[in-house]
Amino acid sequence: MAERIFVSRRIPEAGLGMLREAGVEIVIGQQDTERGVDRATLLAGIRQCDVLISLLTERIDAEALYAGPRLRGVANMAVGFNNIDVATATTLGIPVSNTPGVLTETTADLTWALLLALARRVPESERYLRAGRYRIWGPDLFLGTDVGPGASGTSRTLGIIGYGRIGRAVARRAHGFDMRVLAYDVVRADIDASDTVTWAELDTLIAASDFITLHVPLTTATRHLIDERTLRLMKPSAILITTARGELVHEHALVTALREHWIAGAALDVYEDEPALAPGLADCPNAVLVPHIGSASTDTRDRMARLAAHNALAHLRGERAPNPVNPEVYDLPSFRSPSGAP
Ligand code: GLV
Repeated sequence: MAERIFVSRRIPEAGLGMLREAGVEIVIGQQDTERGVDRATLLAGIRQCDVLISLLTERIDAEALYAGPRLRGVANMAVGFNNIDVATATTLGIPVSNTPGVLTETTADLTWALLLALARRVPESERYLRAGRYRIWGPDLFLGTDVGPGASGTSRTLGIIGYGRIGRAVARRAHGFDMRVLAYDVVRADIDASDTVTWAELDTLIAASDFITLHVPLTTATRHLIDERTLRLMKPSAILITTARGELVHEHALVTALREHWIAGAALDVYEDEPALAPGLADCPNAVLVPHIGSASTDTRDRMARLAAHNALAHLRGERAPNPVNPEVYDLPSFRSPSGAP
């Protein structure tokens, strides 16, 4: 029987081409890139494949993992892997991989695009102009907030929650705006003396920052990290940005905070119940909302697809994948190798 990779939804040709060159059979669950794969198709695909390539939109839970009697790898084309029940995969001896590194700079760029767009009210003023409402320039038309020191010469403070690859890339960009940067992470990073970043406790960072940006993974510990308590700790002038995962923010509390001006604004790329928005969020003029486009550059998506294909081919061959998220699986007696023998 030919070895088969099931790709839940169509990925860029850069990755598919690699799979074809490797001579494996490819089955794609959903060809239309604007539609999801239905659950029955996903389960049927997993049932008959050796390796699964999934996107962050697929829930690869215990039911899905148990559906694949010969499944020996899940390659998620995303850096986040909260859509996968990794603990069950490990128990079953199935390696899971992700695509870190290749999307760092692109996601940091979007973080800054959102920060600047919200601070300078770009989407709001564009909507005004397109609606034909721009009649005359005026000194108080769309007043925003400075990101750099501005006329006052006072540096603004950027608080980075999650100081991993993407958090650091966001920090590097802040230097160009002469910002004071505060960073928090559960693992305290080494910050060398030449670094202009200062380590801060979470609540201190939240209370002191003019801009707060989230770069932590979604776990049970980080779910609703931003809730009523932390929103009330922020300055009324604070701007919140998130390009990480929607469930980090209690979206209902955020809507209240935006409506009642506990904070000045929020820019979101990700949503708690994606693609749905919390009621009222879309009506908040002080919110900038984009549809999970953090890694959306042609080059980065091609690199993500190639990395997912690399990981998938390693899973297929029973080799250690370049980016395993459960590397301990390789040492388990239950590890599913191509021969079926551990
Ligand atoms: C995007 O959200 C990713 O995790 O790659």
